[in-house]
Amino acid sequence: MTTIRLFRATDAPIVSDVIERCLRKVNSRDYPPDLIDRMCAHFDPTRILELAGQRQMFVAEQTTLVGTVSRDGNKVYTMFIDPRAHGRGIGRKLMTHIENLAAAEGFDHMETGASITGHGFYHRLGYTDVRVSETDFGLNYILRKPLPAVPS
Ligand SMILES: CC(C)(COP(=O)(O)OP(=O)(O)OC[C@H]1O[C@@H](n2cnc3c(N)ncnc32)[C@H](O)[C@@H]1OP(=O)(O)O)[C@@H](O)C(=O)NCCC(=O)NCCS
Repeated sequence: MTTIRLFRATDAPIVSDVIERCLRKVNSRDYPPDLIDRMCAHFDPTRILELAGQRQMFVAEQTTLVGTVSRDGNKVYTMFIDPRAHGRGIGRKLMTHIENLAAAEGFDHMETGASITGHGFYHRLGYTDVRVSETDFGLNYILRKPLPAVPS
């Protein structure tokens, strides 16, 4: 069973570790080693704590912490699932969770930035490409998905 809860400060080293293992084992197929090193440094535990103060950060738990996603209103950030738990619907579950929250707040669409590695995942969830941008961490796809109106 997977449960979703808000991030707690004590999660920071574990979230950082999940992200680093994702970057080194999965995203490294699409990005050069120097960029992966920079991304890992960017998501160290101190930075995770900082980001959690700026955005609403969630974690997915089974017996251990297996993934994370953050949102600022209808904007999606830092979606990473432990590589050992890929393909079990955890990413979809986290996305559904934050999409429902954004819809309940009245947003009519969700917006995300996707790496080359995560691009197909968002397509599968119903997101469509809006534009492509070049960031400090390489190519980034901006995608959107309409959200249903929620009666108030
Ligand atoms: C991309 C990622 C978040 C997906 O998480 P996940 O828990 O493995 O995904 P799910 O099991 O919930 O998959 C949901 C659907 O998307 C599909 N999917 C998952 N990853 C995919 C990918 N990279 N490309 C295409 N489809 C993908 C699954 O097959 C599944 O389809 P289905 O429901 O029709 O069977 C995860 O692989 C990951 O952390 N990758 C590395 C980090 C990364 O790239 N994050 C995105 C940052 S932009």
